[in-house]
Amino acid sequence: MIGRKVGIVGAGFVGATAAYSLTMTGRCHEVVLYDINSDLALGKAMDIGQSTCYSPQGTIVNAAKDASDLKDCDIIVITAGVPRKSDMTRADLLIINAKIMKDVVHNVMKYSPNAIILCVSNPLDIMTYVIHQMTGWDRRRIIGMAGALDGARMAYEIHKKVGYGSGQTKTMLIGDHGQNMIPIPEISTIGGVPLEQILTKKEMEDIIARTKNGGAQIVKHLGTSAYYAPGRAIAVMVEAILDDSQIIMPSSVMLDGEYGYKDVCVGVPVILGNNGVEKIIELDMDKETKNKFKISVDSIRDGIDILKENNFFE
Ligand code: 2OP
Repeated sequence: MIGRKVGIVGAGFVGATAAYSLTMTGRCHEVVLYDINSDLALGKAMDIGQSTCYSPQGTIVNAAKDASDLKDCDIIVITAGVPRKSDMTRADLLIINAKIMKDVVHNVMKYSPNAIILCVSNPLDIMTYVIHQMTGWDRRRIIGMAGALDGARMAYEIHKKVGYGSGQTKTMLIGDHGQNMIPIPEISTIGGVPLEQILTKKEMEDIIARTKNGGAQIVKHLGTSAYYAPGRAIAVMVEAILDDSQIIMPSSVMLDGEYGYKDVCVGVPVILGNNGVEKIIELDMDKETKNKFKISVDSIRDGIDILKENNFFE
């Protein structure tokens, strides 16, 4: 059984909402919010801490005065980075967020060398890869949060389309957290009924397009990235790791031969437990899905190559 101290790096909307979501279920002992803007971390930690009076179970919420307060966390959630603006792709964020990641990872390695890292910063799969390269840690301890969010968006779109089965929809997606993500309606279900038996091909295509566009659509309306669904998705993954619940969740992980790829982080179904990634599940893929997966992996590798060309890993 691992402990229950969770550090959250970045006290912006996503980090703070993840903290709030965690305190509402009361499954960790302590949440520490860290931000380069220490006032922001302090204000949010106070506000969230005061909300815990009405939580089912108490959670201590602290703001880090500096990085040393991230000491001995069991899980560190990294949300730090510049948020995506409406005229930016996730790839535009690449270099700037990779540099921010360097500082963050340095602190995590120094103060919480045994932690499991949950990466949320974008471009997600590439930032997860950056953390692997910088830490050299066992790949089970570094996980990118993407499929949990994209799968929730897909479930939302399915419910919008059919109007029933809320909370009963199980979705599966693989690939990157971007335009080449691969929602798989063929193995998604509502109440155990395969989606293929409920929706037409055209309707499924529409749902796939809406799912892929889910994040960008919110940026269009809000002028900033989504945070309620990302925050909840983070909390669900943290809780699964703390509780050793061994649930299946599509997540971005380092492949080492699975699906025929190595040395790349990409979304695939994994089992989450006390060790982080307990197991990678290899789905049978038809030829079309294999091709889509290759395109997705190639797009992530293009981003990694940009960092290599800029001597980022040296
Ligand atoms: C999203 O998809 C920004 O990755 C985040 O909303």
